[in-house]
Amino acid sequence: QSGSLNVTVVGTGYVGLGTAVMLAYLGHSVTGLDIDQEKVDMLSRGELPIYEPGLDRMLIESRERIHWTTDYGSAIPQADVIFICVGTPSNVDGSPNLRYVSQAAQSVAENLNGKTQVIVNKSTVPVGTGDWVTRIIEDHARSYHANRYLVVSNPEFLREGTALFDSLYPDRIVLGSDNQEGIDRMRALYAPLLEQDFEAPAYVPRPAGYVRPELITTALSSAEMIKYAANAFLALKISFANEIAGLCERVGADISEVTRGIGSDQRIGPRFLSAGAGWGGSCFGKDTAALISTGQEYGYTMPILQATIDVNTRQRSLIITKLQGHLHRLKGKRVAVLGMAYKPNTDDLRDAPAHDTIARLNELGATVVAHDPIAMPRARREWTHLRYQEAGSVEDALRGADAVIITTEWEEYCRLDWDRALQGMRQRLVIDTRNILTRRPEGVTLEQIGKRQPTPVVPQFDGVAFEDGVVVAAPRNDTLP
Ligand code: UDX
Repeated sequence: QSGSLNVTVVGTGYVGLGTAVMLAYLGHSVTGLDIDQEKVDMLSRGELPIYEPGLDRMLIESRERIHWTTDYGSAIPQADVIFICVGTPSNVDGSPNLRYVSQAAQSVAENLNGKTQVIVNKSTVPVGTGDWVTRIIEDHARSYHANRYLVVSNPEFLREGTALFDSLYPDRIVLGSDNQEGIDRMRALYAPLLEQDFEAPAYVPRPAGYVRPELITTALSSAEMIKYAANAFLALKISFANEIAGLCERVGADISEVTRGIGSDQRIGPRFLSAGAGWGGSCFGKDTAALISTGQEYGYTMPILQATIDVNTRQRSLIITKLQGHLHRLKGKRVAVLGMAYKPNTDDLRDAPAHDTIARLNELGATVVAHDPIAMPRARREWTHLRYQEAGSVEDALRGADAVIITTEWEEYCRLDWDRALQGMRQRLVIDTRNILTRRPEGVTLEQIGKRQPTPVVPQFDGVAFEDGVVVAAPRNDTLP
């Protein structure tokens, strides 16, 4: 196929896998490399180690153009473009651990073949890592080749659960390099997206009115910064909504109405303003901590980012506070937790609010029954340190429970006949941390986030009286402190 390039993707985690399969779909010849033999065997059999909607189908449709290996010796020499998509876990101090990036860069360097090859950083790496990777490659490339390699930073903005949609229809593609030739080759790689001359898959249709993405070319270090700044800003938006939600509960306002009202201002925008259990997942916590840690290297404080994290920590503990407000001692109480994944449409459990909630319930001596439509098998492997019973269905989870906490807004829960489902409970208390219930079922105590609360909240200033969480007497506005 014309315009087809040889691409090798190192690392088959969420980002690497999505990138590899998408590029094969676009017509490139792709080699996916991982040092984990088990993963490579699975992928070679056509099985996916993760759950991502549509990815299995796209993998089947692209299988002629993609293969999997653990061998750098066969994967690197023929590649025109080499993506580094390995993990960058956090060190205890919040700084990113670049061990895997360094190992991958070394192995790539040892197998470069002398032709011009583009090495792309797609892992989220601190500003300056591109230069550092360049040095690693210089140090490890075999000297008998006149190697030409161009390092490009191409940050990834895909969300789990909608990874294919985000990769095929991005708002923008950011390419950072100090070398125009590297940018040009990447432009050729993404040409089908930039021109939209690929056949959109039926299962990921092109959205109506979608215009081709903006190509933003920057210096290498700016591209690295863009990735962090974007995630930090999104986390900030959510923490902001959560902070305002807490105040809404106290004054009797409704956060959904408030965010609709502010989000329609085009300068603010409606997205990423849903109050809830606090943000989770593999990126926001890691990236905010990494930015702060980079600041510290320069003696530079980042108070807004620190507050973003602090508000999120407080938001997590709010769930248990709300539960205690009604049940008081949790010891011996039976609590159903609906949703273990950190958000719907993924089985990813990293930094999931449900994890902290179950851990705290364990400490407080409650009996936990948990349910998730997709993530239960993964939790069985990864959450062995937590104590909970698995429920095969929502009804099973709720039977005999003293309370139910909705931690993930899975569609199954949004569509549930709650009046029926709640009937099997011993006490009908619902802590809906994702505000998915649109009304309070009859005879049920419903706690949501940023809404008028069924329990009276202690007024924070004089002159306001609450009854059942509703302000019944308040001073005139001009006398408010
Ligand atoms: C995020 C970024 O969106 C993506 O651009 C980046 O490349 C990787 O990190 P992801 O972690 O997959 O993607 O999930 P996302 O959908 O962004 O959600 C992150 C967390 O924020 C989830 O826990 C979600 O529940 C929470 N969230 C999101 C809210 O609490 N409120 C919102 O309004 C939106």
